[in-house]
Amino acid sequence: MSVNLSFTHDNETRPVSRDLLVKRAAWLLRRLDQADKDVSIVLMGDRDMASYNSRYRQRQGPTNVLSFPAGPPPGPPAIALTEHEIGDILISVDTAAREAQNNNTTLHDRITELMIHGLLHLLGYDHERSEEEAWVMWDKEQELFRELKCYRSSTMAQLAINIDHVATVRQARGGAEPDPVLAGGICELAGAQGIVVHLREDRRHIQDRDVRILRQTVKTKLNLEMAAVKEIILIALDLKPDMITLVPEKRRELTTEGGLDVIANENKVRKTIDKMSRAAIPVSLFIDPDMEQIKAARDVGATFVELHTGRYCDAGTEQERDREFDLIAESAETAKGAGLRVNAGHGLDYRNTARIAALDAIEELSIGHAVISRAVQVGLDQAVREMLALVRPPFPAH
Ligand code: PXP
Repeated sequence: MSVNLSFTHDNETRPVSRDLLVKRAAWLLRRLDQADKDVSIVLMGDRDMASYNSRYRQRQGPTNVLSFPAGPPPGPPAIALTEHEIGDILISVDTAAREAQNNNTTLHDRITELMIHGLLHLLGYDHERSEEEAWVMWDKEQELFRELKCYRSSTMAQLAINIDHVATVRQARGGAEPDPVLAGGICELAGAQGIVVHLREDRRHIQDRDVRILRQTVKTKLNLEMAAVKEIILIALDLKPDMITLVPEKRRELTTEGGLDVIANENKVRKTIDKMSRAAIPVSLFIDPDMEQIKAARDVGATFVELHTGRYCDAGTEQERDREFDLIAESAETAKGAGLRVNAGHGLDYRNTARIAALDAIEELSIGHAVISRAVQVGLDQAVREMLALVRPPFPAH
């Protein structure tokens, strides 16, 4: 199956997300039993659409959508079309934007409705043949749109908040405030689906007492980040967090630098996973988006990998960022294909998160510094809600 989506409109003035629309079109093809088929979708401005409308339908002015089913070209059958192509759908983004405004919906949803309409035409539905057929097509459009909405919300990534830096502020004065335990509760009330803490060997922020109390208070999921060292392994086995994430740990680093080298530490990692498995604690390995590390993670029996997004977040140029993004996207698919569950995190903030969250294979994002920093300015509840709106956008708002 391929969805070939191109733009000829000015995407600066009317920005649309190719990733999102391709994903929705691919879902529609699967849902319509056309998983082995190809479709081309061209998004254009009103001027181009008016010209197609006049040339092929002899009508003046633009329309919202036109579909051209694949078929033998007129004249001698010199070019055999592949049996996989079902046709082309042309959509005017300008008209879709006006209709979205009138219908009180969003541009992406209106374009999605037009893609559904166009696809159904390509598959033989026709609202112009009779009133009865018009109703059949309308019902099908509504059904597909509703299902697509449900599908999207059930596969959206979850947001887990890393609250280490609440403890960092507390440790700055060595007192009791602010309390990461209370912060964890506020994050959950704001909608976070998990709480993450890193109990470092040097106890620079999170303390044993924090993890112990959080184990009792966290209602969603407590993910304990830790190094594969004896002392912390014993604490994890005693407290039984909902999962652990193994990270490399260096005394002098400001934050976790680079992913775990599973290949170089295979024995240690495998033994830790075995111990956790016996206590029914799933293990995630924090690794760079690297195919060899993914293979090693699968071979040592990890349940999850958490893909390190640091290089994507720190990229100095757009090209570098795109390259790092592609690497994460490919790694996420590969890991999922290998039977691993996939999380991601590190360095994610309010500008760079939405793109990663939109990757289908990613189940959960672990975000700390950006949210806690913003919380200082706007409050923790609001900071979490703003991040949630990026990770799990309410369907119509995308
Ligand atoms: N994931 C892992 C494994 C981490 O070590 C950290 C940092 O503690 C994070 C995610 C969160 O990174 P950030 O604080 O940059 O959002």
